[in-house]
Amino acid sequence: MFHVTTHAVEAWLDNYRREVDAALERFLPPEPSEPNVLFQAMRYSITAGGKRIRPVLLLTTAEGLCDPLSEHAPSADVIPPREALLKAACSLELIHTYSLIHDDLPALDNDDLRRGKPTNHKMFGEAIAIMVGDALQSLAFSWMAEIASLGVPVERTLEAVSLLARAAGPFGMVGGQVFDLEGEGKNSSMADLERIHRLKTGAMLAVSVEIGAVLAGADSEECPLLREFGRKIGLLFQIVDDILDVVSDASTLGKTPGKDQKLGKATYPALLGIDESRRLATEVEKEALELLSRLRHPIPRLAEIARFILTRLS
Ligand code: IPE
Ligand code: IPE
Ligand code: MG
Ligand code: MG
Ligand code: MG
Repeated sequence: MFHVTTHAVEAWLDNYRREVDAALERFLPPEPSEPNVLFQAMRYSITAGGKRIRPVLLLTTAEGLCDPLSEHAPSADVIPPREALLKAACSLELIHTYSLIHDDLPALDNDDLRRGKPTNHKMFGEAIAIMVGDALQSLAFSWMAEIASLGVPVERTLEAVSLLARAAGPFGMVGGQVFDLEGEGKNSSMADLERIHRLKTGAMLAVSVEIGAVLAGADSEECPLLREFGRKIGLLFQIVDDILDVVSDASTLGKTPGKDQKLGKATYPALLGIDESRRLATEVEKEALELLSRLRHPIPRLAEIARFILTRLS
């Protein structure tokens, strides 16, 4: 039964992933565009694959809330068009991919392998990799702003842009990356560690759920629950990433394992050991599911995603 369920989750996640891949292909500037190397290098990292978990969280949340079979579904005229949801979802993937390209640079984690391929700077050099990150970030904000012309009300669009800016910037991902760098080689406390993870990874995962909720017009009761759920799975995701860095291999991960210990990173396994980190991951997943169970409008697929994140460990 367990395996059947896992398989079913993977099947629908895979369908979403494919849809996101196709949408990215459609929205990206066509090749060749000038300057050629920039567009080539942008496409290289974007089309290298990835789980697309952030876009899928946005789509699942928005679609779950707009499910016409639900008694709480909004009226048809305020349901965001699918093309707008896809563009918003792809905008998250641009920010995420930029964060990976910069994370891999020699000045940060100095990685050679990402998504099963040589890292962007290994292929195109550091200067272009930095520019690609910058370009993807700007492009992300134009895509998010463009959802207004795809049928999303201007106030919702503005809120989505503003939430994304906060999650990606100094109070979110970038701030977390700096805490991560500052934590290298130091004895971090649990509170330090939680802050690093909450910001560097949690902020972008949480905002994926939150923007999905905003675009679907979630009310003041649902929004905070969904935001909190997003934060929990953000933390869960990075605890799992830390554990996989210790226990998994390059062909499964598509990136070099064992890097965290080598760089003296502040991670859950470094602080608590593997067994205790696994136990904590299970606990955080339970807390995430509990938050979901309080939603007036259940979104079963979000629970499946939380479970899927944890099953990456099995
Ligand atoms: C990797 O993110 C970096 C972290 C935030 C842990 P993902 O595990 O989502 O990477 P892709 O997008 O699937 O390659
Ligand atoms: C990276 O965390 C988080 C961001 C890219 C913002 P990690 O450094 O642990 O990610 P991986 O393990 O290299 O994918
Ligand atoms: Mg890093
Ligand atoms: Mg890294
Ligand atoms: Mg990692």
